[in-house]
This record gives sequence, structure tokens and C-alpha cells, in this order.
Amino acid sequence: MRWLSQVRPGAAEVLPSPNIWYYQQAYEVENRAQDVDGEIWRVLREEADWTGRDVLDLGCGDGYHLPFFARDARSVLGVEPHPPLARDAGRRVRQLGNVQVRKGRAQRLPAGDASVDVVHARTAYFFGPGCEPGLREAERVLRPGGSILIVDLDVTSEPYGGWMRADLPHYDPPAVERFFAAQGFGCRRVATRWRFADLAAAESVLKIEFSAKVASRAIGDVRRMNPGAGEVTVPVGYRVHCRDKPTGLVLPGHSAASPDAPGSSSTSPRIE
Ligand SMILES: C[S@@+](CC[C@H](N)C(=O)[O-])C[C@H]1O[C@@H](n2cnc3c(N)ncnc32)[C@H](O)[C@@H]1O
Repeated sequence: MRWLSQVRPGAAEVLPSPNIWYYQQAYEVENRAQDVDGEIWRVLREEADWTGRDVLDLGCGDGYHLPFFARDARSVLGVEPHPPLARDAGRRVRQLGNVQVRKGRAQRLPAGDASVDVVHARTAYFFGPGCEPGLREAERVLRPGGSILIVDLDVTSEPYGGWMRADLPHYDPPAVERFFAAQGFGCRRVATRWRFADLAAAESVLKIEFSAKVASRAIGDVRRMNPGAGEVTVPVGYRVHCRDKPTGLVLPGHSAASPDAPGSSSTSPRIE
């Protein structure tokens, strides 16, 4: 997560993600370890059940979450800007008839207006101020009544959040939460456990997420939390930011889908 300190979302079209871009195998270990009790999935379903609906997973990486959505969704579209990951996501889901993967980015989604019911993004692009272009695009592709669900790590939750803060001294969690609240999002905090087969697996993941100094501290903490041999668990908090697109009458000449579109009327209903 230390790379987040260099990220100014408004300044870059594609945000660097060295963890999954350069250490894809370790990131797969991380994805498998995450949320072993299904708490994030439970909260996502409470917010917007996707059964029989169309889902877009934005910044889908190599597609780890696509098969989970595909079990119940009518269709799933994975969108990923980094070509090797988009290719691998396509390979992961090639047997699944209701899943497609397209190369694209949050600021210009490869999907039509009002074409999906749920936009999901997990630790991707929507990190706070600067992500407004992606929020507008999400609003454009959502049908009225659809939902945007943004899953990210809770930097205020110990111990993982403490390790993140050590690498991100300028990151301001209240400012990020104020930003999403001002954009009309609700926020749910989710306590999860990451579970690894052994300490070596946990170490491989902590080393791709933190600077060498912070990873060494985190590994020491994890060892103390898991004194025996065998499985290793780590408490990790998440935030799920949720916003529903309003339903209702859209008057001729007014666009609820693209409130900031060039030429849209100043009397258009504003979503943000
Ligand atoms: C930390 S990874 C998470 C991947 C995936 N969501 C997962 O949980 O396995 C962040 C992903 O966001 C992608 N990304 C970077 N900039 C983006 C943008 N502008 N729009 C959409 N995705 C972006 C990266 O290429 C990377 O795959």
C-alpha cells in the first residue's frame, strides 16, 4: 500500500498497482486469504443483491472476484486497464458464459449508458478526492436504482491500518470519508480475517504490500499473534462505500445518467 502515497488519482489515468502488476502470484495468495468468513460478501449483498442482475467489476485485476459474481448474476463485465491482467482475467473466466472482460479504465468505461445494475470496485481507483471522473462514469452506466459499491481497506482499523498509516503518513482517513459522504455515499465498516496456510504465505503478502521496514514490523506482529505452527490469521478492517442511483421520472431534455455531461441543462437533477 505504500505506493498509494504517490497516487494523486486526478493526475493519472491508470493508477500504478505494483502489488498485482508485479507480484501476481503473491496477490493471488492475498486474494485467497482475504475475507475468509465472507463478511464483505455479506455486506455487499445486503446493500445490493446482484442475483439475476448485471454487474460491472471495475479494476478487476486478473479477475479473482468475477466467478463469485457470476454464480448469481445475469451477466458480469470485468474492466481492467493493465493489458496483462485483462488477458489473465479473460483466461480465468473463459469457461463462464455470462462473464466478459474488457480493457478499459474508470474514467471511460467500455459499457453503454444505463446498462448495469451494480458497479463494484475493490481496492481499485476509488481512493478518495480525484476519483470524480470515475464516479460520473459509474453513474452513467448504472440503471436507475442501481448501486455503486466501493470496497477498500479501513486505514483506521488495527493492526493492518496501523501498518498502512506507517507507510502513508500523509493519508488522511477522515478527509477520505468526508469526500465519499459529500458524494452521497454511505459507509459500512467490516471486520474481516485474512487466513494463510502458514507464516511464509503471510510474509509473502506483507512484503508486497508494505515497505521493507513496515513489512518487517508487520511480520513480527503477525508472528506474535500466531505463536504456533500452521495457519496464520490477521484481522483486517474494510470500508464499503455504497450509493444508489435514484429512480424516478427523468424529464425530456434532462439526463439523470450524466448530470455533468457537456451541454446538459443546469436544471438537470444532480446526482453528486
Ligand atoms: C489493487 S488491484 C485490485 C484488483 C482487483 N480488484 C482485486 O481485488 O483483485 C487495483 C487494480 O486497479 C486497476 N486500475 C488502475 N487504474 C485504474 C483505472 N483508472 N480504472 C480502473 N482500474 C484501474 C489496476 O490495474 C489494478 O488491477
